[in-house]
Amino acid sequence: MTERPPEGIARRLEQEWVQVGDELRLLWHRPPLQQVEEQLRDPGTVRIFVNGCFDLMHVGHYNALRQAKSVFYQKGFQRVVLVAGLHSDAAIAGQKGPPLLTEEERIAVLRATKWVDELATALPYVSMSVKMADALRVHWVCHGDDLPICKAGGGMYSDVIEHNRFQLVKRTEGISTTQILERLLRYCGGSKCVAGGPLLETALATMHRLSQFAAPADPCRAARPISAASRVVYVGGTFDLLHAGHVELLERAASLGDYLLVGLHSDEAVRHHKGATPVLTLLERAMAALSLHCVDDVVLGAPWEVTRDLITTMNISQVVAAKKEGEPGPRFAVARSMGVLAEVEVTAGLTTQAIIGRCAERREQLAERNGALAPKEASYTQGKRYVPEA
Ligand code: CTP
Repeated sequence: MTERPPEGIARRLEQEWVQVGDELRLLWHRPPLQQVEEQLRDPGTVRIFVNGCFDLMHVGHYNALRQAKSVFYQKGFQRVVLVAGLHSDAAIAGQKGPPLLTEEERIAVLRATKWVDELATALPYVSMSVKMADALRVHWVCHGDDLPICKAGGGMYSDVIEHNRFQLVKRTEGISTTQILERLLRYCGGSKCVAGGPLLETALATMHRLSQFAAPADPCRAARPISAASRVVYVGGTFDLLHAGHVELLERAASLGDYLLVGLHSDEAVRHHKGATPVLTLLERAMAALSLHCVDDVVLGAPWEVTRDLITTMNISQVVAAKKEGEPGPRFAVARSMGVLAEVEVTAGLTTQAIIGRCAERREQLAERNGALAPKEASYTQGKRYVPEA
């Protein structure tokens, strides 16, 4: 079996608490310090940092991480090491209101993202300063063109901007945590605030953007075609609001072969079979799945049933389904009769329905949160200027 390329942080990292001045304490998940120091000595390597709340991780988040890496490869570096910074539950609660997903659930998706090499977690919502950048041994701090202000006052990036250690990336249109919460609130029976004006309501999926998401995180590495794989594993599903439970299923599935193909059902098929349209569109779901280190490719609008024709066409050796009570459904009958079905246990305990349930339970609080944040986002969108995408 050919080896999966070692991108992202699928390997073990050490953890170290780092104190920066009085107000910033974070947990740094990194390889041995000696390896980090070697990277700093290498003129072909650059270390960069992208922070966020990364709640309900979406294509805007993935695209910010992707672009941050891409900008520095375009500047000529041979190796770009990305440290993703994640704000703590308490920090987000103080700035925007409590996140829908816990820190642990947010970490699970971030660490599985192919552009992420290291993590800095438990971040307070304070200035991402030069002192912090130095403590994490990063040369540059990056953010989308929606620069936040800390509640305590002051721009979160003023210090690094002043010291020329800041890199702007284009904020992705049509999507945000606020916007997804808006969709979820509508889904759960009405929402008070809808961002005013004719704004885009989904991220745009050009062929170029899709191909950037499908490409390896390191541009020096050639994309691996399915024909080069010796054991193709297939998992079909909706994968709406890609979460810790999905990540566990997909990583386990990937470990059964050397190429993971994810079949995504169309919005219409999901509505037809489950009675409700997914929260994210097919193309938003595709870009999220392609952002995971363990996913090699996706089928857009995959058949509801895993057919013999699909298995033969894609040279699938193993079809994976999440283990549930009772027999696997009729969708898997052909795979089972061919002896290629594997049922995989998922322990994460998080499902898309559970996320929708949390939203319904916290409807009032989330509507209030969005009442404050959606107008700010709308005013950013209405006043924005063109920023090229990296
Ligand atoms: N980001 C982006 N495009 C989006 C949303 C976020 O490029 N559509 C970037 C931000 O600029 C930032 C990073 O993703 O660099 C993390 O942002 P975060 O505050 O977690 O994301 P939002 O979805 O904007 O959150 P919210 O709606 O709660 O403000």
